Amino acid sequence: MSKQKRTKIKEVLSVGVSDKAVVKGWVRTKRQNKNVAFIALNDGSTIHNLQLVADPSTIGEDLLKLVTTGACISAEGQIVASQGSGQSVEMNVSTLEVLGSADPEKYPLQPKKHSMEFLREIAYLRPRTNTFGAIYRIRHAMIFAIHKFFNDKGFLNIHTPIITGSDAEGAGETFRVTSLDLENIPKNEAGEIDFKKDFFDKETNLTVSGQLEGELAAMALSEIYTFGPTFRAENSNTTRHLAEFWMIEPEVAFADLEDNMDLAEEMLKYLVSYALENCADDLAFLNQREIDEDKNKKAEDRNELCLLDRLKFVVDNDFVRITYTEAIDILRNSKPNKKKKFQYLIDGWGADLQSEHERFLVEKHFKKPVILSDYPKDIKSFYMRMNDDGKTVAAMDILFPGIGEIVGGSQREERYEKLVARMDEMNVPKDELWWYLDTRKFGTAPHSGYGLGFERMILFVTGMTNIRDVIPFPRTPGNAEF
Ligand code: 4AD
Ligand code: MG
Repeated sequence: MSKQKRTKIKEVLSVGVSDKAVVKGWVRTKRQNKNVAFIALNDGSTIHNLQLVADPSTIGEDLLKLVTTGACISAEGQIVASQGSGQSVEMNVSTLEVLGSADPEKYPLQPKKHSMEFLREIAYLRPRTNTFGAIYRIRHAMIFAIHKFFNDKGFLNIHTPIITGSDAEGAGETFRVTSLDLENIPKNEAGEIDFKKDFFDKETNLTVSGQLEGELAAMALSEIYTFGPTFRAENSNTTRHLAEFWMIEPEVAFADLEDNMDLAEEMLKYLVSYALENCADDLAFLNQREIDEDKNKKAEDRNELCLLDRLKFVVDNDFVRITYTEAIDILRNSKPNKKKKFQYLIDGWGADLQSEHERFLVEKHFKKPVILSDYPKDIKSFYMRMNDDGKTVAAMDILFPGIGEIVGGSQREERYEKLVARMDEMNVPKDELWWYLDTRKFGTAPHSGYGLGFERMILFVTGMTNIRDVIPFPRTPGNAEF
């Protein structure tokens, strides 16, 4: 085979009829009769396959036998107008090489519809399906768009540590990091684990959030954002929770809660617009996939708006902004509450909202994304700024249809005495967070920030319904394969 450079299938398809090209990729399907073989080839550059047309008498029957679903091949040939329907160009193959065969008896992915559950078991091969190819391309586009959005606004990207000594959210859901010999744990005189003998001379864990360190950077650089992995050992086996997920956390000096909401709403709309403009083929595929799936569902379980319309709706409409207190009134008087349809009934002010309540507000009551603000202090983290009423804090959560909470954030408590009082009230160890408290002593400033759960965003943009299907290798309770 000649040493001609490989052309990506995306480029071949967009250029149209052209000279000779070399393509490489994985075989999706092959149909063959005595005179001709049709091979659908995909290299991940686009959802579309390139049709290769091969003459068995020139390519060789024996070689074509190895061209089966899942095999990796390289092919050279002329790009010509297609005779068949379904594609505008195809390749007339002159030479073909099998780079890696795939035993058809053993290859797990067949050219048919597999269940999402089965594909999770073979997560190492699922990028070779149309659905996962589309999801990974969209995931990439969203990572790029997030950096572009913040870069264009002059935010600096900060890498915050993955190993920390703190539990920023105070929920006690951290994964321990240790190099101690678990068979032989050193104890101190009091009989407790002697972390002085551990790698860092102290107790450490995987981070649950980069926020606290992000705040330190914002108190010098004004506008920063983090985009890193976060780890939570919460044992919730839901379609919205991962033990390892990625979070985007901007932190902005001189910004109050309203500025924070404005930034988050602008960012979410920017990301959805970016996907609509730059991922049209993949979104069209996922949109049709959802319409096909909905046909097999009961009427009440079908999507009211198709994926593309849901995305456009978010871009075109202002988010509803209400306080927690207003939300409680709506929920208390709602039908599912009165008819005892909620699993957790709302009887008064102060209750934490469950995902059923969030989804009622967004999907049934307002039918729009909702920003809830000013939550009771007792159900939120220690670092949120106390409001003048002494009962609520300057918190905000953004709730999305089909998802529930997608963003959580707040204005931060920048007043030293008030922060200390909250830490004492909530038993947050002040000695471990001495550096965080110091920023309130040395040049403190009003500031705000939020966290966007990256996989929840990808759920929304792709219309997928299980968070395990929007991250390449999901980590959930009992599952860390691959
Ligand atoms: O609301 P959370 O816990 O907020 C924080 O961690 C703050 N430190 C953020 C900040 O103000 N800088 O988490 C933020 C978002 C949630 O709204 C949700 O989208 C996502 O992270 N999230 C999860 N995503 C997947 N799996 C989990 N277990 C998640 N927990 C939170
Ligand atoms: Mg939250």
